Amino acid sequence: MALFKTKNSLNSEMTNLKIPNHIAIIMDGNGRWAKKRFMPRAAGHKAGMNTVKRVTKTASDLGVKVLTLYAFSTENWTRPNDEVSFLMQLPIDFFNEFVPDLVKNNIRVKVMGDINRLPAGTQKAVERAIRQTSDNTGMVLNFALNYGGQLEIIEATKILAQRVADGLLSPDEINADMFANVLNTSDLGDLAAPDLMIRTSGELRLSNFMPYQAAYSELYFTDVLWPDYTAEDLNQAISAYTLRDRRFGGLTQNSESES
Ligand code: FPP
Repeated sequence: MALFKTKNSLNSEMTNLKIPNHIAIIMDGNGRWAKKRFMPRAAGHKAGMNTVKRVTKTASDLGVKVLTLYAFSTENWTRPNDEVSFLMQLPIDFFNEFVPDLVKNNIRVKVMGDINRLPAGTQKAVERAIRQTSDNTGMVLNFALNYGGQLEIIEATKILAQRVADGLLSPDEINADMFANVLNTSDLGDLAAPDLMIRTSGELRLSNFMPYQAAYSELYFTDVLWPDYTAEDLNQAISAYTLRDRRFGGLTQNSESES
């Protein structure tokens, strides 16, 4: 009997699952995980980083096309300086340790958010990881770093307003496609909107995460704290997603045939 699940055996067990193209995760609960163990909050973030590795591999093996992770919000700067410094070091450690695995698994790194405000070392690590994985054609691992959804919408609006002010665009011409092209997710094209949005740790809100793109996302909340989150937890979320009836404001096939 095989001791480890191979990519194929994992896939075959999942044959009845509908795999979301784009999964976005609000990785919450690192601090509470550490507190429960009488450890500093940084230990929770470090454990959370290891969960990122685990979940990235699982999502890629399942055939997810985009995995977006909320790593640092525009509001997280208000945390104590030492915690912010630790969070800024995490991408450096993560990419130092994990880029070879990302390359091996054909995973491409992308970042959304204002990375120009990150410390130089963090920016460099992020840019290097993007470069080192740029030829990969598999899952996109999209980190939201210094990201805020309201700011994203405001910045997009400013770009379009400038085009109107320059006489290049009439307000009537602004439509959803044009707006999508000036959001942080523009390069994801048809995959910009998460199909499934997961939040860990029992909090029931989106906290300024992809408010535009999540308009029709299926939401899934779990009490599991992010450092404890496993492949099995991701499978459970995808099982719940598989049972959802996505109507996008229309009618299901069943209700159409009933009417
Ligand atoms: C929320 O938990 C988590 C964060 C603000 C940081 C998330 C970052 C990671 C999981 C690691 C990121 C890894 C990479 C590779 C960038 P919290 O601190 O708010 O937890 P609490 O609500 O229990 O206090």
